[in-house]
Amino acid sequence: MENRGLSSIRIKLSQAVIVLLDRLTSYYSELISHPFQSGLIYFVAGLIPALLLGWILFPMALYSEQHQPLNFSHVTHTDPDILDVLEGTEGQERCLYCHGFRGDGTFVGIPGLEKCMECHDDPELPWGESPEEERFLNTYVANKREVPWLVYSKQPDNVYFTHIAHVKMGEQECETCHGDHAQRDEVPTFKRNRLSGYSINIWGKNIAGFKRNTWDSMKMDDCADCHTKNGKEENNACFVCHK
Ligand code: HEC
Ligand code: HEC
Ligand code: HEC
Ligand code: HEC
Ligand code: HEC
Repeated sequence: MENRGLSSIRIKLSQAVIVLLDRLTSYYSELISHPFQSGLIYFVAGLIPALLLGWILFPMALYSEQHQPLNFSHVTHTDPDILDVLEGTEGQERCLYCHGFRGDGTFVGIPGLEKCMECHDDPELPWGESPEEERFLNTYVANKREVPWLVYSKQPDNVYFTHIAHVKMGEQECETCHGDHAQRDEVPTFKRNRLSGYSINIWGKNIAGFKRNTWDSMKMDDCADCHTKNGKEENNACFVCHK
């Protein structure tokens, strides 16, 4: 229901934009034929600061910000010198210790508290001195409460995506789709687009859709572009991604 609601809002928005453009064009052609009389000068003088403000304010207004419940460091948790269970592992293997596949091929995703408690089992006995670990132990481990992580790359429910097809069969690197997340010491701020409801990781940092990196956005076209590049066009039929 929510998705259908969003699509109809999008359609209404684009209709509104078309009507607005239509009015502007007719207004403009009138202005150009009688510049002073009709106030073209004032119009242009007002337009420039409005555009500048729009460029700065609109992106700020477009996203709502939320913070992760905890600061989890991937730098600490992927270092074999700190986590000796990772000794002898390399690259993706390191990630699979937490983000692995179950026997039936489904992806674990963000690991649950049970995984963390393989090490953080005693709330009274921290490994280090960080206040963040103390907060984690007191709030979550002591109360056996799951950490309510926000998922940056969460797609709408009507999109079908499997990690095993991409990581094992398709041999794609985590980084190609997720960027440098695993090299970070601090979790990024979660930004949700107020119009689409998606996170900035899906809709991208700019409205025009320019991409510098493969992971800058993960919309329908981004999925399809990579399938085409990999000679897997058969996956670009609607029913493959929308079951
Ligand atoms: C000790 C467990 C652990 C290991 C090892 C680990 N991660 Fe994570 N990962 C987490 C936790 C907890 C989160 C949730 C917090 C966050 O977003 O950083 C997470 C979140 C993520 C996310 C964010 C997904 C999203 O869309 O919100 C990505 C991407 C990720 N991990 C990639 C990796 C990669 C790549 C590696 C290997 C280099 C790796 N992780 C190793 C525990 C781990
Ligand atoms: C294999 C052992 C191991 C596992 C599993 C593990 N941790 Fe840790 N964690 C550590 C160690 C060791 C430190 C201490 C690092 C330091 O301060 O020197 C730590 C530190 C932390 C900290 C302090 C800040 C930081 O990230 O360095 C937080 C928060 C934390 N862990 C949360 C988690 C969560 C949440 C999970 C489960 C997704 C988890 N840990 C899984 C070993 C582990
Ligand atoms: C082809 C692109 C792609 C690759 C490669 C990829 N991911 Fe993802 N990842 C996604 C997408 C898309 C989602 C959101 C899935 C959804 O919402 O159904 C996601 C979601 C996640 C999540 C959050 C899952 C959740 O909802 O709890 C984690 C954690 C994650 N990926 C880690 C990894 C790791 C680790 C690797 C490498 C082993 C990896 N990803 C490889 C595209 C990718
Ligand atoms: C970085 C490249 C890349 C990106 C980005 C990517 N894919 Fe794929 N995808 C592949 C490859 C390669 C395969 C073929 C895997 C195989 O069967 O060898 C594939 C296969 C699939 C399949 C068929 C496998 C199955 O389980 O039936 C689906 C569905 C799919 N992708 C959905 C998505 C969606 C949805 C997105 C975007 C959110 C996405 N993909 C983004 C590379 C990518
Ligand atoms: C390669 C995977 C892929 C294919 C193929 C694909 N889609 Fe999508 N679709 C997505 C993803 C990912 C999203 C969510 C991100 C976005 O809005 O771009 C999406 C979103 C949508 C939405 C918006 C739903 C919403 O929640 O706002 C509609 C409608 C849609 N797709 C229809 C189609 C139709 C019709 C086709 C066939 C012509 C198609 N899709 C083919 C991946 C795909």
